[in-house]
Parts: sequence; structure tokens; C-alpha cells
Amino acid sequence: MEIVICKTKEEASRKAADLVAALMAKKPKAVLGLATGSTPVQLYKYMAQDCAAGKISFKQAKSWNLDEYLGLAPTHDQSYRYFMDKNLFEHIDIPRKNTHVLNGLAKDWKKEVSAYEAAIKKAGGIDLQVLGIGSDGHIAFNEPGSSLASRTRLVSLTPQTVKDNARFFKKAADVPKQALSMGVGTIMEARRIILLAFGANKAEAVKGAVEGGVSQFCTASALQMHPDSWFFCDEAAAAKLKLRKYYAWRAEEALKAELDA
Ligand code: F6R
Repeated sequence: MEIVICKTKEEASRKAADLVAALMAKKPKAVLGLATGSTPVQLYKYMAQDCAAGKISFKQAKSWNLDEYLGLAPTHDQSYRYFMDKNLFEHIDIPRKNTHVLNGLAKDWKKEVSAYEAAIKKAGGIDLQVLGIGSDGHIAFNEPGSSLASRTRLVSLTPQTVKDNARFFKKAADVPKQALSMGVGTIMEARRIILLAFGANKAEAVKGAVEGGVSQFCTASALQMHPDSWFFCDEAAAAKLKLRKYYAWRAEEALKAELDA
């Protein structure tokens, strides 16, 4: 686990974008795992800029998203498919058919999730997974209490997550309470994982994920067991880490080695 700590979210997102660019340069057919929410927006802007500048191309890439609200159509402005179209896919050269988001309107969710997992496997597995983190330490919609071996499935959101997400909806009552989500076990199969965390409201979750015990009560803590996981934090999100100076020093070397390779 490497913890990159930057002054601002822009600087952290730029560094994360450098890892994405390095992968795309090495492996144009890379398989990306993508997240929604406010956290990766800046990273996606940098990916779009890099693509527009001709530095990288996503023409041969494929992507699978982490999750989708149950009951929202892909055209709903709060669906994660809509979010991805507006915040990334419409700004890069990835063919739309190569992008995959779980269908929140699937009649048979069990069939939907098993086909989703099978498709990821058929594509060779995820090379690089982008994650945010919930204020309760969740990754994707793996809320506290989710098995660390969980697979893509139907999940119920906690009242805290519903409250956190209410800012995106007209009324609190409109926030879906269920979603289809990749499991922790599914996420852990990605070859590289980069988690972004910004702001003081993520500091407790980051502390639990990095310095707490590995536990299903903070599903991001599973990343401690991953052989190639990276946290990109701003100073506010990293503020509660005891060993933050050590992590920052070590990560600088590790990132340089990665980008020089
Ligand atoms: C989104 C997702 C969630 C978010 C998390 C943080 O696809 O899987 O786990 O990453 O809820 O959300 P933001 O970034 O809005 O703070």
C-alpha cells in the first residue's frame, strides 16, 4: 500500500492521472475499473486533457464501472451511466460499446451481475481500478458489514450513504436505497488499485482503511491486503494518519520508480 499525500486534490489527481497515462502507454488495450462520485471528477478531467493533447488514447481500452443505483434508468441524470458519459466518456476517445455500467433497471439482477463478472473475466480482468471512499470507509457500495470476499450483487445503502448522496438529488426521498455493486472480492482482483480521498470528512475513513485492522466494518481496509494499491490523498484527508510523513516520503520514491519504468 502506497500513500501519496499532496497539498491539493488537483495535485493528487494529476499524479493519479500520471499512473493512468503510464498504463495506457504500456498497454493500449488496458481494462479500466471506474468510479463515480465527486472524488474522481478532477482525475477524469486530466485523463480527458491527456487524451485531447494526444498523450494517450483510450480507443482500444475497455471499462467497467463499480456500481449503479437500482431503479434508475441510464438516462436519469443521477444514474452512474449518465455521470460517466458526462464526466469522462464524452471527453475521451473510448468507443461507447467498450464502456460498461451495471444496468439499474435489470429485471433479473442475479443474471445481470453474473454476466457482468463473466464479461470482466473474459476481457482479461481489470488492470487498474479507480476508487473513492465513503465517509464510513466503503468502497463501491460495500457498506460496513459487507464480506471482504463479496462479489457483484444487490446491496442496501446505509442511512449515512443515503444522506451523503442526497446532495445530488432534488429531494432526499428521491435517493435510491439499493444498488448493484461490485464486491470487495471483485475489486481485489484488479491488478492495480488507486483510491482517491479528499477533504476532512474522509480523514476518519482513511485512517481506518490505512492504519486500522482489516475489517468488514471499513471495507477499504481490505486494500491493505492488495499487492499493488495506492491512496492519493490531499492533506486534509490524510490528517489523521499517524505515519503520514513516512508514507509521503516512501510514496514519492515509489511513484517516481513507477513513472520512470
Ligand atoms: C462510486 C462509489 C462510491 C464513492 C464514495 C465516495 O462509484 O463507488 O464508493 O466512491 O461514496 O463518494 P464521493 O466521491 O462523492 O465522496
